[in-house]
Formats: sequence, C-alpha cells, structure tokens
Amino acid sequence: MQPATGKRRRVLVTGASGGIGRAICHTLVRRALQDGSPIAIAAAGSHKSASLDALVGELRAAGAEAFPLAADLADPDDCARLVANAGDALGGLDGLVCNAGITAPAALADGSLDDWTRTFDINTRAVWLLARAARAHLAKAGGTIVAVSSMSGTFPHPGYGAYSAAKAALSMLCRQLAQEWAAHGIRVNTVSPGMIRTPLTESLYHDPEVERLRTELVPLARIGRPEDIAEAVAWLLGPASSYVTGQDLRVDGGLCDRLLGTIPGRAAS
Ligand SMILES: NC(=O)c1ccc[n+]([C@@H]2O[C@H](COP(=O)([O-])OP(=O)(O)OC[C@H]3O[C@@H](n4cnc5c(N)ncnc54)[C@H](OP(=O)(O)O)[C@@H]3O)[C@@H](O)[C@H]2O)c1
Repeated sequence: MQPATGKRRRVLVTGASGGIGRAICHTLVRRALQDGSPIAIAAAGSHKSASLDALVGELRAAGAEAFPLAADLADPDDCARLVANAGDALGGLDGLVCNAGITAPAALADGSLDDWTRTFDINTRAVWLLARAARAHLAKAGGTIVAVSSMSGTFPHPGYGAYSAAKAALSMLCRQLAQEWAAHGIRVNTVSPGMIRTPLTESLYHDPEVERLRTELVPLARIGRPEDIAEAVAWLLGPASSYVTGQDLRVDGGLCDRLLGTIPGRAAS
C-alpha cells in the first residue's frame, strides 16, 4: 500500500465490526495521521449495524474518510459487490484486509456439513473472491492484501477441525496469490493471531481460572489484545514491508513455539 505522494490511502477492511477488525481500522487511521497521510476506509460487516455506524463515526472524528458497508461473505455475489462498492466509495483501492472469520467448534466426528462449508466459505473462499474482485484496483495502485489467518492454520486444533483446515488453506491461498500476483506489484501476506481477547473468544474468559491457565501458557505472560494484531496488519499493509510477500507473521506472544520447553526432565532456561 504505497499511494502516490499526496494521495490518500484507500483500504477495505472486512470483519470491521468485530474485535480485531475495529482495532485494525483505528490503528490504520492513527498511523496514517501520525505520518501526515490522509486515509479512507471502507469498514465492512456482515450486515448494517449500530456498532459499525459507531466505528465509522469514530474514524471520521479521528480525521479519516470512512464508509460503512455490509456484505455476507458466504455469498459469492456479495463478495464481488462489496469490492465494487468499496472501489466506488473510495475511488479505488490500495489495500485489502481480509479479516472476517468464523469458528464452528465441533469434533470432526460430529461436525455438520453445513458448518464445514460455511467455515470454508467465509474464512477461505471469500478471501479468494475478494482478492480476485480487487485485483485490477490493487494492480493499478501497487496494492497490498493482508488476510487474518490463525495459529490454528499451522497447528492442529482439536475441536476446531474445520476452522483449522480452513485457515491452513487460507495461508496457502495467500502464498499462492503472492506468487501469481507479484508481477502485478501486488503483495499478499497473512497474520496469524494466537489467543486474542475479542467478542469471538470473550465467553472463554468469563471463568477466571480459564483465563489464568491460558495466560500461564503464553511466554510473554498475557492474552493478546486486538491492537497486537492490528499493528502487525498495519506493518504488512504499509511501505515498511515492501520486500515482504507470501509470508505468515504469527503474533502469539511466543505460545506456539513453547512445546519443547515444556518437556519434563530438561534444564529450564
Ligand atoms: N480472537 C482470536 O483469538 C483469534 C485467534 C486467531 C485468529 N482469529 C481471526 O481473527 C479474525 C477476526 O476475529 P475476531 O476475534 O475479531 O472475531 P469477531 O469479533 O467475532 O469478529 C468477526 C467479524 O467477522 C465478520 N463476519 C462473520 N461472518 C461474516 C459473514 N458471513 N460475512 C461478512 N462478515 C462476517 C463479523 O461481522 P458482523 O459482526 O457484522 O457479523 C465480524 O466483523 C478472524 O478471521 C478470526 O478467525 C482470531
């Protein structure tokens, strides 16, 4: 996302009404204003909502152009319409942040076909369709795509088999896009959050014991915040990462690399 000097950056963010999406929108606006560069954001949720309108009001109050958009990303036509509407509202696109996602917790022996299909449709297929619809805009702008994957896309996650497989496919989809579209000047990367406290996961933290046990697992000794993910997304979207494409940036406080350090009978560091 490297707009010509003086031009404003134009970014479509999906899942903007959720915990990480809101933080991405706020972080992009704060960083742009710090740099003295104008920014315009199309903030998309699955439907029109008071919380999406409130977010757009906050972004405008902070000094950005912002527009609320709604699309059901399980519907291929809605994916194409969303990009067209964002392109019209913003006058083109420099950045696409595919952050919307769902989980459908179930053991693989029990999960329904509908849940499997919907999980792949929203977490994986929609990213392909949004990217394809945005390609002409992004090629014109030397634009960037960042998709929000998950540590579950790299490590098996019992009870979340469809989600884990969908995020693994998403990571490969983005590596593939990075190779195919590098010649068009489009970079494509993913960010994989660890345990982040958002509306998606909030109910897990209602039990203080679960929160304590989860926190103990993280080498950096805290549950992640939406802003931790937003900062990584903003870096991958911006010019400071202009030689980075096809990569996954895990943002998990060190959680996923902890395994060997937990083996009993070895010296602790
Ligand atoms: N929180 C974590 O610990 C964690 C960890 C790893 C990865 N992630 C990933 O991070 C991303 C954001 O998660 P979050 O925690 O911020 O979740 P969240 O608060 O539940 O937000 C999810 C967002 O996705 C949107 N969405 C859901 N279904 C949609 C559909 N059919 N069409 C369009 N949009 C839809 C929601 O829109 P509406 O509200 O308008 O329905 C909402 O904005 C997801 O991709 C998730 O898989 C999260």
